[in-house]
Amino acid sequence: MTEADSAALRIDMTRLGDKLAELASIGAIEGTEGCARLALTDEDRDGRNLVVTYMRDLGLDVSIDGIGNVIAVMAHDGPEAPVMTGSHIDTVRTGGRYDGNLGVLAGLEVIETVIGSGITLDRPLAVGFFTDEEGARFPPDMLGSLVYVGGMALEDALEIEGIDGAIVGDELTRIGYAGSAPLPGPVPHAFVELHIEQGPVLEVEDITIGAVTGVQGISWQQVTITGQSNHAGTTPMSLRRDPGFVAAACATFVRELALELGHPQVGTVGRVEFAPNLVNVVPASATFTVDLRNTDEAVLVEAEQRFAAFVAKAAEAEGCTVETETLARFEPVTFAPEVVDIVESAANDLGHSVMRLPSGAGHDAQMMARVCPTAMVFTQSRDGLSHNAAEYTSPADLEAGANVLLQTMIRLSQNPASV
Ligand code: GLV
Ligand code: MN
Ligand code: MN
Repeated sequence: MTEADSAALRIDMTRLGDKLAELASIGAIEGTEGCARLALTDEDRDGRNLVVTYMRDLGLDVSIDGIGNVIAVMAHDGPEAPVMTGSHIDTVRTGGRYDGNLGVLAGLEVIETVIGSGITLDRPLAVGFFTDEEGARFPPDMLGSLVYVGGMALEDALEIEGIDGAIVGDELTRIGYAGSAPLPGPVPHAFVELHIEQGPVLEVEDITIGAVTGVQGISWQQVTITGQSNHAGTTPMSLRRDPGFVAAACATFVRELALELGHPQVGTVGRVEFAPNLVNVVPASATFTVDLRNTDEAVLVEAEQRFAAFVAKAAEAEGCTVETETLARFEPVTFAPEVVDIVESAANDLGHSVMRLPSGAGHDAQMMARVCPTAMVFTQSRDGLSHNAAEYTSPADLEAGANVLLQTMIRLSQNPASV
């Protein structure tokens, strides 16, 4: 097969659409198109089993490592490291069907297309799914890929406690995904991940493909304010030590801070729990999370410092104490320009409009970028919605993204080495 033949290869959208629908039926949220497959739950296990079956049906060599990452590699004669793609199949509790799942199933579709064509590549292709990308149950996010690249020791990862009190290591064993493949994992020749944008930019700009230049920095904290629990009817306002009030003031401050620092700073209080959480009791404690992100590390540090100063002052004024725990902290990542160039030229050659943009969401690719040349392909997200069961990307956009992934991987796999 010639280079012209490989440039003419296209994925089969019906096959990819069928797999997306089948995976989405596991953990489906009734009455919606969305999915609830929090990491290492029964639903995650069932999704994993389905995708592993797809991998084995293609004759791929499937390995599972100690944090439950699953990597499947094409047969290949020779020692060349594979060109790898992949993403995640865990979801937030109110997730859509494309976040992560598209990158994994499109990767499989790329490999099935290549195998079906009979084309011989200079390097094999690989597709993987990483454990607990979302971090919604077990912080930090991108846990599996972080361990894959050696950014966290396996022993430490296995001890992480989830929001429901479950432990990563116990849950991995329970669902049968505590594997034995070595960690850190094998370093690929290059990594490229297809993902929905999860934001509004491509749709607003009326552009089909995003060539992703990097990922913004992420800071997650959990803050616990402790005060004096008391009777809601008898305790005069002047005598209260109310952690709920402090938490509310902090949530308001996070919004004001992000607005003051300006775009692209964002700030979110996404989870709040009062104890004992009763109508007629001044809370004993309030626990909440703060998610701060920025493409500029210096501004992100400033946001963290200003939040810390505010929470200390607000708690002191109310006679409360503060404990802060870092759940995740990743600096902004810049992808390999030569891989971004290949994504852009593959999109152009396929006749798609394309623009460069940074990612607002965290992705496994930002971890893989620590060990090999890496970039990402984005497709549109309708109304910029994600982490929402209403998340939607049209079949035409899914197909465009998967074909850009196919052509990018083929180019990356051809010698002389393109990266
Ligand atoms: C992961 O999806 C994140 O960006 O929070
Ligand atoms: Mn994702
Ligand atoms: Mn997500």
